[in-house]
Amino acid sequence: MSNNQARVVLTARRVSFSWEDTPLHWVPEDPFTSHTINVLHLLLPAGERWFVHVYKQVLPYIRDERLREDVIGFIGQEAMHSQAHDEVLPHLRDLGLDPTPYTAQVDWFFEKLLGDRTLPPGRARRWWLMERVALIAAIEHYTAFLGDWVLNADELDRRGADPTMLDLLRWHGAEEVEHRSVAYELFMHLDGDYRRRVRTWAAAFSALVFLWQRGTRFFMENDPTLVAGRATFRDFHRRGQEGVLPSTGAMLRSIPRYLGRTYHPSQEGCAAQAVAYLAASPAAIAAEKGVA
Ligand SMILES: [Fe+2]
Ligand SMILES: [Fe+2]
Repeated sequence: MSNNQARVVLTARRVSFSWEDTPLHWVPEDPFTSHTINVLHLLLPAGERWFVHVYKQVLPYIRDERLREDVIGFIGQEAMHSQAHDEVLPHLRDLGLDPTPYTAQVDWFFEKLLGDRTLPPGRARRWWLMERVALIAAIEHYTAFLGDWVLNADELDRRGADPTMLDLLRWHGAEEVEHRSVAYELFMHLDGDYRRRVRTWAAAFSALVFLWQRGTRFFMENDPTLVAGRATFRDFHRRGQEGVLPSTGAMLRSIPRYLGRTYHPSQEGCAAQAVAYLAASPAAIAAEKGVA
């Protein structure tokens, strides 16, 4: 990476999780928080598969060997994240909450709307590839934001949140902080156009807000244990104040940071904290020992 930090070689940790003891409301007595975070299991399998799909097309354009290695490491980590979140879905189905109607929409979004499209080789094809590279950089600003948030969300521990789910979220969050610079550096290496950064940020942010609130409402309305389950912005805002979800203020403050001319993802989150979590994560330790 081109920043001055010590370079970390990115490796995919082959984690696995056993879900049989995880309750549907894995934040006790708080379906709204549980389901808001559960939306990650709906969005990330398709979203991170799409990252991998786009980046495999980008590899031939990278002219910096270190960045190329970072991108390959990033691809390995995102593929593992996608798989780990995907493996939660059968468990939700066993608990009576079938996510298929929603994941079908998310698959369409990433595979069709943001897919390759039939474009002639040359400028149009390259333009669409660069738009997607910039979109990924914007999304990675938020995955790093969420990763940093969950590593510090002590209130979830105080409320007795399920330890397996917390380990999935924090292992993933720590790897997001670990590789937070790759997508942005790739975008700057290949293009870096500021108008494109702003435009794709607006698209990524709007899509994330839209898909997330829709996913939370889908879970609340289809949760078999809830009568007339609802999800409102007030619920979200209140949980943010309580510390069990990211706060609205922190989310708003993250916007000008990404759009600032001097932005670099290394200013976001704490790499040392991420490395410390990965050294202590039960899933990452099991993967290291080859018992996962
Ligand atoms: Fe990820
Ligand atoms: Fe990522």
